[in-house]
Amino acid sequence: MEKSNLDLFKEVQSNTVIDTSKKLRIGIIGTGWIAAAHMENYLKQPDVQVVAGCDLIEGKAEAFFKEYGIQAKCYRSHKEMLDDESLQLDAVSVCTYNRTHAECTIYALNKGIHVLLEKPMCVTIDEAAEIVKAEKKSGKIVSVGFQPRLDENMKMIKKIVESGKLGKIYYIQTGGGRRRGIPTPFGTTFIEDATAGLGALGDIGCYSLDMVLNAIGYPKPLTVSGYKSNFFGTRADYSNYVASGHPEYAKKFEVDDFAAAFIRLEGDIVLDFRIAWAMNLDTPGDTIILGTEGGLRIPSTECWNGSVGGAMKLYHEVCGAQTETEIPIIKTKGDLFELKIRSFLDAIKNGTPAPVGTSQILYNQAIIDGIFKSAELGKEIEIVIPKC
Ligand SMILES: NC(=O)c1ccc[n+]([C@@H]2O[C@H](COP(=O)([O-])OP(=O)(O)OC[C@H]3O[C@@H](n4cnc5c(N)ncnc54)[C@H](O)[C@@H]3O)[C@@H](O)[C@H]2O)c1
Repeated sequence: MEKSNLDLFKEVQSNTVIDTSKKLRIGIIGTGWIAAAHMENYLKQPDVQVVAGCDLIEGKAEAFFKEYGIQAKCYRSHKEMLDDESLQLDAVSVCTYNRTHAECTIYALNKGIHVLLEKPMCVTIDEAAEIVKAEKKSGKIVSVGFQPRLDENMKMIKKIVESGKLGKIYYIQTGGGRRRGIPTPFGTTFIEDATAGLGALGDIGCYSLDMVLNAIGYPKPLTVSGYKSNFFGTRADYSNYVASGHPEYAKKFEVDDFAAAFIRLEGDIVLDFRIAWAMNLDTPGDTIILGTEGGLRIPSTECWNGSVGGAMKLYHEVCGAQTETEIPIIKTKGDLFELKIRSFLDAIKNGTPAPVGTSQILYNQAIIDGIFKSAELGKEIEIVIPKC
């Protein structure tokens, strides 16, 4: 008998029921600022048990779990926690600062544990390649924490590109910025080289790159001419330091607060990129994608966090008439961070690929690494991606 629409509807509904017969055992590595968002969203999942956590700072993991009223085992490092096989962890969230992303992820993979890794993937392209190698060897998944991917407006950008409405894409301008937005509300781990390794480039630049590269299918990056500077973060009179009573942060600032680059991608596409944690401007411009059949304007946001800032506009020609079509903002059902956690858990349970896979983010990291190196050398360089 043929299925009725109602039967099909019921099937779709039942597919969304979460199997709670086995609870996934989760550990959290690094219990700082972003770990709270992971914890809060794991707690909403009926098929998860957060059983352990660790932090290098004495007492930090204990205080973290106390706040949630959770009985979890606490450790002083990722190694200590991952070496404890009695925990029987299925997965970990790596919520450490950028510099320890790679070592924590690789150690977890080598123990046969899936990883939800916060963005940026890591600091250097060599680290990224080591992560990919360890992932392949382990047979486990690594999903990189780009929650803007789950935004319906982001998905629409990809749909528009894939529909062919833009034709052959040849030029992209992307990036964003904040007038004053160096992230120091919880200390200096975002601005010191030993912990962050990258500044605006790694923190919010990775989002801008992902917005457009994901839409166009992540072509391989070939060359880059990059620039970076630190004119704001190194000033004791930077307004946010003054407002928060921390002019001494200026001496600790060792990363970039602005970066720009011109990148050539496979398929004869060029990418014009800029990113700012601080600048004397509201926005360095919208994201634009130019194609032979149409152009897309994606409004920027004031406090750049990788999202679509307003209705997008498609510029095209209809029977010879130059026409513009507005694409209204689409509301995403649910919270992006919860969707990020849920899609990771579903991929583990269903044995499907990571929602934000490392094979793509490897190219994102290659561009970031290339901008950094090119800026240091003061000239254009070839992007070399290590074998992995
Ligand atoms: N997806 C997002 O929206 C989002 C937002 C903010 C931050 N982040 C990312 O999350 C990461 C962490 O940021 P944060 O603001 O929480 O930093 P944070 O400094 O507040 O916390 C990081 C914690 O990790 C701990 N740590 C470092 N190495 C460790 C190790 N080997 N073992 C155990 N603990 C270790 C540190 O002691 C620290 O407490 C960064 O990479 C950042 O880019 C993502």
